[in-house]
Amino acid sequence: MSSPNQGLISLKPFIPEYVDTVLEIGCGNGRNLIPFKDKKLIACDLAPEEDVNWAHPFEDIIYVRSLVQEVLVEGSADIPINMSSALVISFGIMMYLTKEEQEQFYQGCLARGCKNFIFREHDTDSNRSDGVFLLERHNFIEKKFNYSMRDPSTTYVSLDLDQTQKDQLRNLTAI
Ligand SMILES: C[S@@+](CC[C@H](N)C(=O)[O-])C[C@H]1O[C@@H](n2cnc3c(N)ncnc32)[C@H](O)[C@@H]1O
Repeated sequence: MSSPNQGLISLKPFIPEYVDTVLEIGCGNGRNLIPFKDKKLIACDLAPEEDVNWAHPFEDIIYVRSLVQEVLVEGSADIPINMSSALVISFGIMMYLTKEEQEQFYQGCLARGCKNFIFREHDTDSNRSDGVFLLERHNFIEKKFNYSMRDPSTTYVSLDLDQTQKDQLRNLTAI
């Protein structure tokens, strides 16, 4: 798969204008960074960089080879200490971590000032034995773009929006 997730494209107009950096954990080939190619991009995955077959010829992308569980703890110089203008995204990776690991990463981003998150992960209520999203759901707006029994993924969205924008986001249907 080399094209970005359609739900992510639907969400793009809701991302605050001040966001200038996008960090994707478990980036794979970076397909979900394509909609943000005009921003500073930081891509994290455990794969060796030479094995990454980028979905787009990104210019100046920063690749951090790390486990998500370690990327903030280890203090990679490439992850900004101040993440107040960053958006963090994940597609099919947070759910493979334990609840404690998911919390540790999320709380680490919050501690650095991050206010914008989009996580597309197996629905907390699904019975997927390979993992589900385990962060506190009341902090997120849940969007079920292209939800199916085969792929019970929900997009968990927390963006720095006012109440009117949040209501619009709740009513948003996928393109
Ligand atoms: C299901 S793929 C999704 C790739 C990409 N997000 C996408 O939607 O196309 C999961 C990716 O997460 C990476 N990954 C799995 N566990 C990881 C971990 N603990 N830390 C960092 N990356 C991890 C894998 O190497 C793989 O590239």
